[in-house]
This record gives sequence, structure tokens and C-alpha cells, in this order.
Amino acid sequence: MFHSRKKTVALLGLVACATLMGGVNSQALVQNCPQPRFTGKAPDDYYNRKSPLTAQLLDAKAGEKLYFDGATDRFSCATCHGSKGDGHGEMAKQYDPPPRNFSCPQAVNGVPDGHLFWIVRFGSPGTGMPAHKNFSDDQIWQLVAYVRGLAK
Ligand code: HEC
Repeated sequence: MFHSRKKTVALLGLVACATLMGGVNSQALVQNCPQPRFTGKAPDDYYNRKSPLTAQLLDAKAGEKLYFDGATDRFSCATCHGSKGDGHGEMAKQYDPPPRNFSCPQAVNGVPDGHLFWIVRFGSPGTGMPAHKNFSDDQIWQLVAYVRGLAK
């Protein structure tokens, strides 16, 4: 009888501990979403651009490949933004502000395609986000669509 009570207490302790850890974890996630944004707003002629890629021309595989391969002269997007787009790529810790967490809906929802295009093309001065001069426009649009998809 005494023995089993001790077991129950131990079990309760475990549950409390797990609950506490769960709480701490979800708090970390909350802090990460929404993230503060350090990038400026794209100039109007970029900001208002619409992706020319129709549903037929959008190629999820192309966007994914670019995201993981990156440009030849740059680290891949995944190295910083993470393979799931959660901002936890292997190099992420080096950067302050940290790479954008695309899995956070506020990171991309309501942010126009043209703005995302501009950032990928020209980077975000003063942050780790590099410019990508060697991508074609279409490649960047494929990336924009892919990055947007990571939020869903
Ligand atoms: C060397 C690290 C690094 C690489 C490589 C990188 N990024 Fe970023 N990225 C960042 C950082 C850091 C920020 C956060 C800048 C900020 O908060 O304004 C960022 C921000 C962004 C944003 C958010 C802009 C905004 O206004 O919210 C987009 C979109 C983005 N990156 C896309 C990409 C894509 C697509 C690639 C690959 C082609 C890529 N990034 C490669 C570090 C990186």
C-alpha cells in the first residue's frame, strides 16, 4: 500500500515535470512567432509586383530544390531558415536578428509577394539575409511560393 502510494507520487511528479517542460517549450515558440521584423519595406514598384507564375507554372519541386540548393555563390536558404522553414537552420544561431521563421503564419501572411521577391533579390542590409543576384526572376518567384507554403 505504502509502496504504491510512493509510486503514485513519483508518477505525479513526472506528470508535473512534463507539463512544466511543455509550458516552457510552447513559451519559446510563442516568443518566436511573430518575430520582430528588421527588413525595410520594398520600394513601391517591387512591393506591388504580382507573381507572374500561374498555378500551372508554379512548380513546388522547383521551389523546394532552390530552397535546399541555394544559389551557387550563397549558402542555401535551408542553412539559415531551416529545412522546415522554422528559422532553425544550422547557421541560424550566428545571426541577430535570427533568420525568419516561415512556419509562423504572421511571417508571410499579409506580406505581398513583391516584398518577399525584393528581399530575396536584394537581401536585408544589416542582417544575415544575403542578396541573390544570380537567380532569375522566375526562380525567385518559385522560392516566394515555396516559402509561403511553409506557413500552412
Ligand atoms: C546566411 C543566412 C541566410 C540565408 C542563406 C538566407 N536567409 Fe533569408 N533571412 C536571414 C535573416 C537573418 C533574415 C531576417 C532579416 C530580418 O529580420 O529582417 C532573413 C529574412 C528573410 C525573409 C523575410 C523578409 C521579411 O521582410 O520578412 C525572407 C522572405 C527570406 N529571408 C527568404 C530567404 C530565401 C528564399 C533564401 C534562399 C534563397 C534565404 N532567405 C537565404 C538569413 C538568411
